[in-house]
Amino acid sequence: MKNKTKLENRGTFTGKIGFVLAAAGSAVGLGNIWRFPYLAAEYGGGIFLLVYLLLAVTLGFALMAAEILIGRKTGLSAVSAFKKLDGRFSFLGSLASIIPVIILPYYCVIGGWVMKYSATFAFGEMNAAAADGYFTEFISNPIQPIGWFLLFLGVTAVVVLFGVEKGVERVSKIMMPILVVMVLGVSVYVLCQPGAIEGVKYYLVPDFNNFKATTILAAMGQLFYSMSLAMGIMITYGSYMKKDVNVESSVHNIEIFDTGIAFLAGLMIVPAVFATQGVEMAKGPGLMFIVLPKVFAKMPGGAVIGFIFFALVFFAAITSSISLMETVVSIVKDKFKLGRKLSCAIVLAICLILGIPSALSNGEGILSGFKIIGFGFLDFCDFASNSVLMPIVALITCIFIGYVLKPKALIEEAEAEGNTFKAKRLFTVVIKYVAPICIVLILAFSILEACGILTV
Ligand code: PFF
Repeated sequence: MKNKTKLENRGTFTGKIGFVLAAAGSAVGLGNIWRFPYLAAEYGGGIFLLVYLLLAVTLGFALMAAEILIGRKTGLSAVSAFKKLDGRFSFLGSLASIIPVIILPYYCVIGGWVMKYSATFAFGEMNAAAADGYFTEFISNPIQPIGWFLLFLGVTAVVVLFGVEKGVERVSKIMMPILVVMVLGVSVYVLCQPGAIEGVKYYLVPDFNNFKATTILAAMGQLFYSMSLAMGIMITYGSYMKKDVNVESSVHNIEIFDTGIAFLAGLMIVPAVFATQGVEMAKGPGLMFIVLPKVFAKMPGGAVIGFIFFALVFFAAITSSISLMETVVSIVKDKFKLGRKLSCAIVLAICLILGIPSALSNGEGILSGFKIIGFGFLDFCDFASNSVLMPIVALITCIFIGYVLKPKALIEEAEAEGNTFKAKRLFTVVIKYVAPICIVLILAFSILEACGILTV
């Protein structure tokens, strides 16, 4: 059974708190601290935030509940779960399984960037990191990003191979609350800087002129990514959930945790862009790495705070990359009926094949000229998984639950052992109508927009 080893190790996670923490450990990662703020900055600030929140309480809630319930009902992970429910839909589990395979390699590249920044601060080179051009120079270098990528990948692989997740989880239970406090502290500091208030307005007040179809697509992809949805992960987690745990309130807790951290990270980074760079926004994946060192360099005690901050982000990232790698290893193990060590070796090989070009495709890197439909390799992997595959998997999942399995089957599962499921009407309406219609429209508009046929 997929992910059995990992989740068996979590034998103590029998109750609700254990389940919520395990799921949140997978959910809270680079998606919240690195990806969410740069997307918010890029896609119109307040309008992105509004769309994201609306999607989180409807689509995010319904899909996360659905995945957990499928897992709990069948007691199986994605591929076998869909097969058991309806043989015609076993392809859906396989399709969902491709997604973490695409995400893991480039996740480790970004994880490597975080490690590099922790080291830079540790060696007292904060001012160098805060200088203009430092980040571009680093990601354009032919060797450095690969070295850091290999280091991050290596640490992830050691943990997965030797099964020391328990230790990591214990440490991250202490680290995560500290991270939240630090993000809060840095946001307060940033908000007191001259010029930051403009950024707060940009981040919090929706401007409908900034609205585009791709805003919704980006927000939806981010929602799936951040909550580890549409890739079968929550099905596996659900398969280890006890029947007497309330699914509805667990989902609410995970959502509040995940969205809260993303919101705060945005509140820390977006106004900082305005304070340090003026309105001239530094867009794209480098945002956190370009803006935060400048903020720390101005802060009293910034060198130490900056080091602690990047070390904490590293922890959040490593817990997520471990859960990603565990998933991919178990997919390979089940699919090809291989041992754990050999499966790990194959996953490492896949990571190298996809991760090295990702590490070289940024800035002025040697592969930066190599574009797939206009995207560099790392951005293409991100786009293909988040904006194409995840919406497709989510769409087919909704159609399957809405019209083949029927929402009632999952509602009954949610209400097992006297539990309540208050939002069952919302759940049914979202799964049957809102989600499929939205996803189809969003995909269609985005394709038209991407092809330049539609300009909104
Ligand atoms: N949700 C994680 C993040 O926001 O960083 C990314 C992720 C981790 C996705 C683990 C999937 C997963 F299994």
